[in-house]
Amino acid sequence: MRIIVTKSYDAMSMTAAKIIAGQIYLKPNSTLGLATGSTPLLMYKKLIDIHKSIGLDFSAVTSFNLDEYIGISPENPESYHYFMYNNFFKYINIMPKNIYIPDGMAADINKECHDYDQLIKNNGGIDLQVLGIGKNAHIGFNEPDIKFETTTHKVKLDDETIEANSRFFADAKQVPRYAISMGIKTIMFAKKIILLANGKNKAEAVFKAVTGKISPAAPASILQLHQDVIVIVDKEAGAMLPHVEN
Ligand code: PGA
Repeated sequence: MRIIVTKSYDAMSMTAAKIIAGQIYLKPNSTLGLATGSTPLLMYKKLIDIHKSIGLDFSAVTSFNLDEYIGISPENPESYHYFMYNNFFKYINIMPKNIYIPDGMAADINKECHDYDQLIKNNGGIDLQVLGIGKNAHIGFNEPDIKFETTTHKVKLDDETIEANSRFFADAKQVPRYAISMGIKTIMFAKKIILLANGKNKAEAVFKAVTGKISPAAPASILQLHQDVIVIVDKEAGAMLPHVEN
């Protein structure tokens, strides 16, 4: 695990964007695993800037998003479909046919989950997976549990997650209770992973992920077993880490 502590949210975002840009330059037909949330927002803006300024080419890139709420349509501004199109995809030249996000409106959610993993496999797996981290150390919507959920699955969201995400909704009652999420195994199969975190409310989760006991009670801790993870944090999120590289 490599840990990069940056000076600011801006620097965290730029570092992540450069790694993604590098990945695409090295392998133009890369498969990216993408995340939503406030953490990667500026990283997406930086990638849009790189696309516009020096022509970073997404035309051969495929993307798989980590998760989506169940029961919210893609047109709903709170859906992760909407987030991805409006914060990233519509500004770059990725081909719509190469964009995959779990379908939270699928009639058969179990089949949707199974098919999603199959699609990732058929695409040759994920080259570079971007992760945020929840305050409870969740990755994707893999909430603290007594076991690691392996493949893409239906999740019941934690009260803490519902509360955290209620900031995007008119009130907490509107936050969906269920979601589809890539599982831990799906995530761990990615060839390379970058985990991003900013702000002091993520410091404890980052500490658990990087130095804590590997346990499903802190799902991000499993990343310690992955062979190619870069943790990129700002100073606040990295505040509890004992040894840091600047
Ligand atoms: P955030 O969410 O980026 O909005 O803090 C991260 C997460 O819950 O994984």
